[in-house]
Amino acid sequence: MAQQRWGSKLGIILAVAGSAIGLGNFLRFPVQAARNGGGAFMIPYFAALLLLGLPLMWIEWTIGRFGGGFGHSTAPGMFHTLWNKNRFIKYFGVIGIFGPMVIFIYYTYIESWLLGYSFFALFGKYNACTTDQSMAAFLQGYQGLVKNEFFSSIAPSYFFFLVTFSLNVLIIYFGINRGIETVCKYGLPILFVFGAVLVVRVFMLGTPDPARPENNIINGLGFLWNPDWSALKSAKVWLAAAGQIFFTLSCGIGVILTYASYLTKEDDVALSGLTAAVTNEFAEVILGGSIIIPAAFAFFGSAGVEKFAAAGAFNLGFVTMPLVLQKLAFGGIFGFLWFMLLFIAGITSSISLAQPAIAFMEDEFNFSKKKACTYFAVIVFVLCQPAIFLLGKGVVDELDFWGGTFCLVLFATIETILFGWVFGMDNAWTQLHHGSDITIPRIYRFIIKYITPAFLLFILGFWFVQEWVPFILLKNVPAGNVSYIVATRLMLVGFFAVLVFFVWKAWKNKKIRSS
Ligand code: PFF
Repeated sequence: MAQQRWGSKLGIILAVAGSAIGLGNFLRFPVQAARNGGGAFMIPYFAALLLLGLPLMWIEWTIGRFGGGFGHSTAPGMFHTLWNKNRFIKYFGVIGIFGPMVIFIYYTYIESWLLGYSFFALFGKYNACTTDQSMAAFLQGYQGLVKNEFFSSIAPSYFFFLVTFSLNVLIIYFGINRGIETVCKYGLPILFVFGAVLVVRVFMLGTPDPARPENNIINGLGFLWNPDWSALKSAKVWLAAAGQIFFTLSCGIGVILTYASYLTKEDDVALSGLTAAVTNEFAEVILGGSIIIPAAFAFFGSAGVEKFAAAGAFNLGFVTMPLVLQKLAFGGIFGFLWFMLLFIAGITSSISLAQPAIAFMEDEFNFSKKKACTYFAVIVFVLCQPAIFLLGKGVVDELDFWGGTFCLVLFATIETILFGWVFGMDNAWTQLHHGSDITIPRIYRFIIKYITPAFLLFILGFWFVQEWVPFILLKNVPAGNVSYIVATRLMLVGFFAVLVFFVWKAWKNKKIRSS
C-alpha cells in the first residue's frame, strides 16, 4: 500500500494536539486536581510533564518516524526494527494496538454522551433539573442505569452512540490527510474559540452569591494555583499527576508512534513534539483549569468542588457544569458550547485511538483502507456493547484501568528502555535531532536515559504494591459485579491473545514471502 503522508507540518502538529486535547483535559484534569487538593496537585503535575511527558513525546515521535521509514506504522514492527536481534520484542508492541483499542471502546461511548448533551442543552431538555440530585438522575437515566421521568430506556443514548461511532469510522476511512488532518484543522480552532468564550463567561461570574463573598472566581483560581508544598511528600498525589500527564498527552500507548510514522525522514520531530505538548498544556491548565473548577467554586465553594469531584468521575462535567451554566442568561447556548467543545475534543482523540489498529492491518496484512475499516468497525462495535450495557457493573472503570492506566505506564517503560538503552542514547539523540528545527538541552540526554525510566519503574513498582494488587485481586469490587469484571478481563485477555496471534502470523507471512 502506498505510504500515506500528512499534508503539512502544521497538519501533524494539529493531529497530535487533537489526539492529546480531549476529555482528559476538560473532565479528567479538573477531577484529578480537585481530588488531590488543587494547588497540591500542580507541582507534581509540572514535574511529571518535564520528566515524563516531554521525554515520552520526543521518544515516540522519534521512534515513530524511524519505524515509518521501514514501512511500519505500529509498535510491533517498530520495536522489531529497533531491536531486530530479539524475536520476542514485537509481541510487547502488541500493547501499542491493544491499549488504544481498549480506550477507544469506552472513550467513544462517553464522547457520544457529549453529543447527546449538546442537543439537550440547546433544546432545554434538562432545564427542569435545578438540583444536583435531579441533574444526576437525568444523567443516570440517560446512561440507562435507571428508568425515570427523564428517560424510559437507553435508546436515546444508543442513538447518539451509533452516530458518534459511525462518524469516527468515517473520518478514519478518509485517511490520514483527508480525514484526520482535515478534522483536526477545523476542529481545534473551533474548540479554542468555544473554550475562550466559556473562560471569559466564567470569569465574569465574579461573586455570584453576595451572602458568601468567599465563594468567588479569584478564590476558585487560587484553589488550583496556590501551591501547597506539603503535598510533595504524598506518593498518591505524584502518582495521580503522572497518570494524568500520560493520559492527557496521549503518551505511552502507541498512537503518537503511528501518527509520526507518516512523517518523512527529513521532517522535524523535536520542535513539533514540543509544540504539540505545549498546545495540549495550554488547553489543559489554561482552558481546562479555568472553566469547571472556578465556576463550581464560585457557586459551591471549595467543599462543594471536592464533594462533587469525589462523587464520581463524570459529576463535575455532566452535573455541576450544566447546573452552573443553567443559572446564566442564554444558559442553553453556553451549555451547548460546553458540551460541543467536549465532543470536538473527544472525536479528535478517539480517531487517533483507532488508527494503530487500522495501520496494523494495512501495513502488515496489506488490507485496503476499506477492508481495514470494516474489520475494525465490526470488531470494536461488538466490544463496545459491554461498556454500554454494563456501565453500572463497573465495566468502564475496568477498561479504563487496563487501557488508560496499566497499559500506558507499562508500554512507556518498555519504549523508554528500548530507546535509551537498546537503541542506545547516541543513536537516539542523533535520530531525535535529525532534520530538527531546535536543539534540545543536553540535560535531556541524561533525563531520557536515567530519570524517565527510573521514574517509570518507581511508578510501576509503587502502583503495583499499592493499587494493582488489590485491583487485580478484585478487592474493591462489590460482590454483585465480580462476575462481570471477571468476564471483562477474560474478554481482554482473549482479545490480546488474538492480537499476539496476528503479529505472529504477519511475521510468518513475511518470512515465507522473503524466502
Ligand atoms: N489524550 C486524550 C485526552 O486527554 O482525553 C485521551 C487519549 C487519547 C489517551 C489517545 C490516549 C490516547 F492514545
